[in-house]
Amino acid sequence: MPRTTSSRRSFLQQGAAAASVPYFSWNTRLLADETQSKNDRFRLGVIGAGGMANGNMKAAAAYCDVVAIADVDSERAASSNEAMSKGKADVYSDYRKILERKDIDVIHVATPDHWHTKPLVEAMLAGKDVYCEKPLTLTIDEGKLIRKIQQQTGRVVQVGTQQRSTFELFTKAMAIVADGRLGKITKATVAIGGAPASKELPIATAPANIDWDRWLGPAPKTDYRVLIPTASKDKSGKPKNDRPQTNCHYEFRWWYEYSGGKLTDWGAHHVDIAVWALALNGQTAGPVSLGGTAKHPVDFKVGIPVQRDRYNTATEFHFVVKYANGTEIIIVNNHPDFGNGIMLEGDKAKMFVNRGKLTGAVVDDLKDNPLSEGAIQRAYKGLPMESNERKAHWANFFHCVKTRKEPISDVHSHMKMLNICHLAGISARLGRELKWDESSEQILGDDLANSMLTRAYRKGYEIEM
Ligand SMILES: NC(=O)c1ccc[n+]([C@@H]2O[C@H](COP(=O)([O-])OP(=O)(O)OC[C@H]3O[C@@H](n4cnc5c(N)ncnc54)[C@H](O)[C@@H]3O)[C@@H](O)[C@H]2O)c1
Repeated sequence: MPRTTSSRRSFLQQGAAAASVPYFSWNTRLLADETQSKNDRFRLGVIGAGGMANGNMKAAAAYCDVVAIADVDSERAASSNEAMSKGKADVYSDYRKILERKDIDVIHVATPDHWHTKPLVEAMLAGKDVYCEKPLTLTIDEGKLIRKIQQQTGRVVQVGTQQRSTFELFTKAMAIVADGRLGKITKATVAIGGAPASKELPIATAPANIDWDRWLGPAPKTDYRVLIPTASKDKSGKPKNDRPQTNCHYEFRWWYEYSGGKLTDWGAHHVDIAVWALALNGQTAGPVSLGGTAKHPVDFKVGIPVQRDRYNTATEFHFVVKYANGTEIIIVNNHPDFGNGIMLEGDKAKMFVNRGKLTGAVVDDLKDNPLSEGAIQRAYKGLPMESNERKAHWANFFHCVKTRKEPISDVHSHMKMLNICHLAGISARLGRELKWDESSEQILGDDLANSMLTRAYRKGYEIEM
């Protein structure tokens, strides 16, 4: 590791000395200090250099140098290297080469969802701290493994649910909850959008730059499919830059083989806010049942899509998640009143939050009745804060790597929340209500549903432990 004991000590001393200063000035200064020394920078290895990784590398640039990039698409790896590291990073097709390197401290995993658990677990076992994109897993059982290995190794793992580090929106909303302004929350309505449908996508030969077998990795062997859109025009007559429909880059989200559709893609963000609010409200027990309705672009038999040639995740849904004390989380694709976001209803007040606004009488009331001292710090676990969403979440990660504290988006709270999103996916595919036992993390009285807590890894792509 390039950082010295003395630099770590001075960092901790700065934190202690700053503790009495109001939180915003304190945190901004603390984080600026953290990045001052060039020798104090982390060395980052990136696994999966797609859209999200490129955005994340920009956000992380204040704290680290990207020294290695792995992608099974050689063109993406090369262009990301040019853009993020001026061509200086080492480029690999096999991410395990990065994990072997002793000079790399921290890893960013930004592969498609079916490729999160394996490199994350192997990275922890190789002694690395990891910033891994959401949703952390494809199945509930993968979450159990990640939790176990994280506990065993003590590695710092930040989940890429950066909404937790948006101080003027979601974090502030949580401070309002932590300050008791809503009273006891009885209902959270979460609207997350639905997946698109597609026509049949023709089988094609994967481009030479993509190693299709490795892209599939642990998922079942299947054909590469792509439909290049015929040039369409926007309202002003300009050609639209439509994305190809495929089972590969970006669009993997719309296939249960590689993802959970919107239920995990945006569920990981917005259900996370609802469950975080319940936890700050003192409700830590998990749900007892989940049921509702879902519409898919294809039919399902015993939980498996009968057609394998087009997008298959849910386009519309309405789920009710019930807790033993009567609290409910409603998860819908669209809400007629607010579209996308989270409505939290308590016995004293209600409040709405999404990526654009935080509204409600309790929010207006803050002008005359400010939050109690420390409320936002209680919501943010007392960790330093920086006022820019993506950068702030990375700042939080690097702070925790240095201090060995638990980051704001920790594995445990993420898995608890993501279990709900995965249960919704299982309920959607089976078309029935599920009873959930939080203590054993099992679905009760339903062997088929319970068998869907796990998935076999394809031979040759098992986790190396
Ligand atoms: N936090 C957020 O707001 C947010 C936003 C977008 C995406 N994401 C998450 O980021 C992840 C990536 O999404 P994306 O939109 O960037 O997808 P993408 O398809 O654009 O990028 C994924 C990249 O991973 C590469 N890859 C696949 N298998 C690999 C392997 N074995 N080793 C190395 N590289 C491999 C692909 O070739 C591709 O370049 C997803 O899990 C997604 O949910 C998070």
